[in-house]
Parts: sequence; structure tokens; C-alpha cells
Amino acid sequence: MGSLRGRDVISILDFSRDELLALFERADRAFNEARAKPLRDKVLALAFFEPSTRTRLSFEVAMKRLGGETIGFSSEEGTSVAKGETFADTIRMLDAYADAIVVRHKYEGSALYAAEIAEHPVINAGDGRQHHPTQAMIDLYTVYKLFGAVDGLTYGVLGDLRYARAANSFVLGLTLFRPEKVYLISPPQLRAREETKEVLRARSVRFEEVERLEDVLEELDVLYVVRIQRERFPDPAEYERVRGSYRVTRRLVESKAKPSLKILHPLPRVDELDPRLDETPYAAYFLQARLGVPLRMALLLEIMGA
Ligand code: NCD
Repeated sequence: MGSLRGRDVISILDFSRDELLALFERADRAFNEARAKPLRDKVLALAFFEPSTRTRLSFEVAMKRLGGETIGFSSEEGTSVAKGETFADTIRMLDAYADAIVVRHKYEGSALYAAEIAEHPVINAGDGRQHHPTQAMIDLYTVYKLFGAVDGLTYGVLGDLRYARAANSFVLGLTLFRPEKVYLISPPQLRAREETKEVLRARSVRFEEVERLEDVLEELDVLYVVRIQRERFPDPAEYERVRGSYRVTRRLVESKAKPSLKILHPLPRVDELDPRLDETPYAAYFLQARLGVPLRMALLLEIMGA
């Protein structure tokens, strides 16, 4: 019985620690629950106004495994948005056809706006640089699976902390737990936004901003890496100044990290994460991508289940 029944999913901060832990336990059982096809009379709308591989396909496969159906689109081109239809009208139509709506859009606040329009629950699959709550759920679930807990660990979050919504939501998600310490690691131009740091302060999470991974790598239990979000830079020259400014190499990790370090990345990666790390025990990003399916199954069951 979903305690999140009917709820919108806009920010990871909409959830409590206990709700997330219950969700993780349900994700552990999700494939078993799926056998009864519990969402067989439900339809999930996938409204992807921005590119996606993992998020869209894992929502789709999660819904199908639960016996439900999906409708939707993966770009504006094939829809009436291309003819000038508004975002609001598009959401109204999906609300009329489906039992819940997953939305990804380049504008901040678009999922919240959709939730105000739609009667059915809206799940934010990324709104501009702001939030990506289901990614944060997957990331925290991955840590929980690997370490048995989210509390008590030292985290490094490396990369474009200014524009990457996945990093932002992960850091906000950590504030629901009790991490030992959080290092925000980025070049000066890509520092975490003030509003994110405000939440860390308000929730008394120990954190420090540093520029070089080398300086803190040996302390870390979890290293979370994100790519530079090129498409969010208002000025291409600004992007050129920071491109390639950080890179996690196998050599660096093997020379400095704890043997138990786990590296997470929401993917896609560009050049910031050495593919030669893939076959090492440090790499947790493919596991993380796989866990997107059971986690999203659990979330759909909570929100739409009987
Ligand atoms: C992320 C996103 O779209 O914010 N991708 C994802 O959902 N796994 C990360 C990114 O694009 O860098």
C-alpha cells in the first residue's frame, strides 16, 4: 500500500528519510511484486521535452514490468508543441489520457507547473539545472545497497555543481541523512549554488568546497561525478574556459583512493571519467544505472498502486 499514493515528485526534499528507506526496501522486492502485474490497468505518460536515455527507458521498462502501459514522446518535434501548442495544454492532454505523468524539460520549475495543472501525480525527470529527484533516489539507493547505509560516509561530489541537476539533487538528498562530511569539488567557475549550500547549512551537514580531487580523494567513501552541462551554459565561451577542467583517471584513483571507494555517475559521461575505471571494483555507475529500474518500479507502485 503506497504511502506516497497520489503524491507529486518534484524535489528530493519533498521526501523524508523514512519514506526513502521504505522505498529502498520496496525496490529490493520490486521484481517479486511485479509478477502479479499490479499496474496492469494503469497508463504512465512520458513527456520528455529534453533528451534522455536512461531515465525515459527505465521508467518505460519499470512500468511495463509492472503490467502497465506507457504513452508519450521523447522530443518536442513529433508533438503539437512544434505547431505552437503550449506546455500547459500538452500537460492537460496527457493528464486526460494517463494516470501519472513523467516530465523532463529544460526550464526550471516546469515540473512544478505541470503538477499545478495536472490532477494526476507528476514526476519530475529533470527541470533545467534544478532538480532530478528520481535520479537522487537511485543514487542514494545505490549507496545503501553498497554500504548498507547512507549515514556516516564521506562523500565527494565532483564536477559542474553549478548546472548539474543530478549533482544538486544528490547533495540535497544527502541532507536527509547524516553523512560524515560532504566535499563539493569543482573548478571555481562551477561551484555549487548558494541555495544548495543554504540547505546544507540549515541541516547542519558538514561540508567543504575544494577545487582539486587530489586533495581529498583519500578521505572519500563515495565519489559522485557529473559531466559539464554544456547545454546549460548561456555563453559558449564560458563553456570553452572550463571544458576538460576535471578528469578522474584510473591512475589517480589507484594511487590515492581507499580500496573500498565507490564511484557513482548518473551518466552520460563525456571525458570526465576514465573508461579504464570500468573494470575496477571502484566503478559503481553501471550498477547505479541498473538499479534505476527496481527503484522506479517501487516509486510507481507507491504512487499508483492500489
Ligand atoms: C542526468 C540528467 O539528465 O540530468 N542524466 C540522467 O538522468 N541520468 C545527468 C546529465 O545529463 O549529465
